[in-house]
Amino acid sequence: MTTEELCKKAVEMIDMAYAPYSRFRVGAAVECDDGTVYTGCNIENAAFTPTNCAERTAIFKAVSEGHRRFRRIAVAAETEDFTAPCGVCRQVMAEFSPDMDILMVNRAGDVKTLPLRQLFPCTFDSASLNPRQ
Ligand code: THU
Repeated sequence: MTTEELCKKAVEMIDMAYAPYSRFRVGAAVECDDGTVYTGCNIENAAFTPTNCAERTAIFKAVSEGHRRFRRIAVAAETEDFTAPCGVCRQVMAEFSPDMDILMVNRAGDVKTLPLRQLFPCTFDSASLNPRQ
């Protein structure tokens, strides 16, 4: 899939967002290592804490279907600035693919790409749980 197609899928998912509390709608599309794409949107909750970001919705859909390696994820929001993934989403991305890229799409359709390694340099991962003593 081209970058434009991946970003378009993320933008289209903005319409699926369930964001009655923040009114901040986000769409995402994650590309797996075999090229399969899963989409997601943010899903809010009256209790706030159960809210799921668009990125995690897309990634959890992919993982639940057997995909654990990702090339890149497009994240689209209706903002002038680029919306970067929250820390929780960065941690989830790093669990599966610390070398993936993040494509941020603003309301004008401009795209800014950054490596997850740059956005999230010090990962707590499976190696952290099993340190060499
Ligand atoms: N949100 C996302 O879905 N992705 C981001 O990258 C940033 C934040 C959502 C969570 C919440 O529903 C709303 O945006 C406001 O924080």
